[in-house]
Order: sequence, then C-alpha cells, then structure tokens
Amino acid sequence: MRVIITENYEEMSKRAAKIIAEQIKRKPNSVLGLATGSTPLGTYKELIRMHREEGLDFSKVVTFNLDEYYGLAPTHPQSYHYFMFENLFNHININPRNVHIPDGLAKDIKAFCENYEEEIRRAGGIDLQLLGIGRDGHIAFNEPGSPLMGRTTIIALAEETIKDNARFFKSEAEVPRLAITMGCGTIMEARKIILLANGEGKADAIAATVEGPITSQITASILQMHPNAIIIVDEAAAMKLRRKDYYRHVNRLLEEQGL
Ligand code: GLP
Repeated sequence: MRVIITENYEEMSKRAAKIIAEQIKRKPNSVLGLATGSTPLGTYKELIRMHREEGLDFSKVVTFNLDEYYGLAPTHPQSYHYFMFENLFNHININPRNVHIPDGLAKDIKAFCENYEEEIRRAGGIDLQLLGIGRDGHIAFNEPGSPLMGRTTIIALAEETIKDNARFFKSEAEVPRLAITMGCGTIMEARKIILLANGEGKADAIAATVEGPITSQITASILQMHPNAIIIVDEAAAMKLRRKDYYRHVNRLLEEQGL
C-alpha cells in the first residue's frame, strides 16, 4: 500500500480529486465506488470545481455507493442517498441512471444485496473505489468482526459508530441501528482504492490499518492485501505511523519517476 502524507485536509482532498479526475479522463465511462461521511466532502468540492472550471465530464461515469442506513428513505436528509445528491451529483453532469446507492427501504434484503453485486459485475467492476475510515477502523459499514471476504449485506452498527454519526442527527436515538453495506470482499475487487483520513481522531485507526496485523477487528487492514491501494492522510491522521519517513522517501522517488 502506498501512503501519502499531506500537510492538511485541503491538500489531501486535492490529491484524491486529481487521481479521480485522471481516472475519468483516461476512461470516460469509469465505474467509481463512492463514499459518504465528512472526509470526502473536500474531494467532492474539488471535483465539482474541476467540472465547472475545467470541463471534467461525468456524463458517462457510473457510480456505486458503499452503503446506506437501513430504514431511511432516499429523501431523508440524513440518508446517504440525499448526501450524495446534495454534495456531488446535483452539481456535476452525471446521468442519474448511472448512479447506484443501496436502497435503505429494500424489503427483500438478501435479493437486494445479491442484485447490487450483480449490477457491479454487469458494469464491469469498480475501477476506482474511494473510502473513508471509521474510528474503529471500519470501511464502508464493515464493523469490527465483519468477514474480510464478505459481500454486500445488512449489518448492525457498532456503538462507537452510532455515537460518532449522531452528530448528523437530532439525537443519538435517531441514528439507524442497521445499514446495507458493500462487503470487504466487494471493495477488494476494485482495481484501485483510495482511502482518505484526516484529523487526530483517525490516527489510531490509520496506524492499525497500515502497520498493524491484518484482522477483521480493523476491517481497513485488509487493504494491505490490495495491489493498488493508496492511503492519503493529513499530518494529524498520520501522527501514529512509525514509518512516516520511509513513506515520504518512497513517494519522493516514485514522484521523480512521474508515478
Ligand atoms: C460512516 C461511513 C463510512 C465513513 C465513516 C467515517 O461510518 N459508513 O464510509 O468512512 O462514517 O466518517 P467521517 O468521514 O465523517 O469521519
């Protein structure tokens, strides 16, 4: 895994947006895996700017979101569906028919999850998957203990996640207890993965992800097995990494080669 340490949130967001934009330019009908949460907001802002000012074209792009709260309608302001339209899709020229987000109201959950996997396959698989990380080391909603080769499924949110995400709801009681999420196995099939993290609160999760053992207790640690995963973190989130100097050294050498 390649670790890129940036000075701040803005630089982290710009690095991520640049990689996504390059992917779209190289392959206009790219299949992107997208994430929610506060972390990718700066990346989405930068992509919107690139669309407006530089003509970055999303007309053929296909997207699959990682997860959705179970029980929330797409129109619910706290749903990830609403989040994605509000913070990205309404501001770019994406075809809404190319947007896929798990259905928080799915009645037959098993059939829905199987179909979501099938739709990803039919689209040709995910070219580039964007990820955030929970403080407990989760990716998407794969809480500690989730299978590292799991597929799209319904999961129960961990206590820590309910508390963390309560800030977006009126009260903790309103946070849904269940969610539909891509599995780690689904995520690992993406051809390229970018994981973003910023702020001190993510420092332990990042250290465990990058330098700890691969374990279902930190589901992001499975990314150590991915041949093309890039971890972009700001200084604060990188704080507990022991081999920071080495990661900087690697990046200097690779950048000199234009890589
Ligand atoms: C939720 C999402 C994750 C996200 C995490 C971190 O649990 N399901 O995909 O990475 O929150 O959120 P934030 O970026 O707001 O810290």
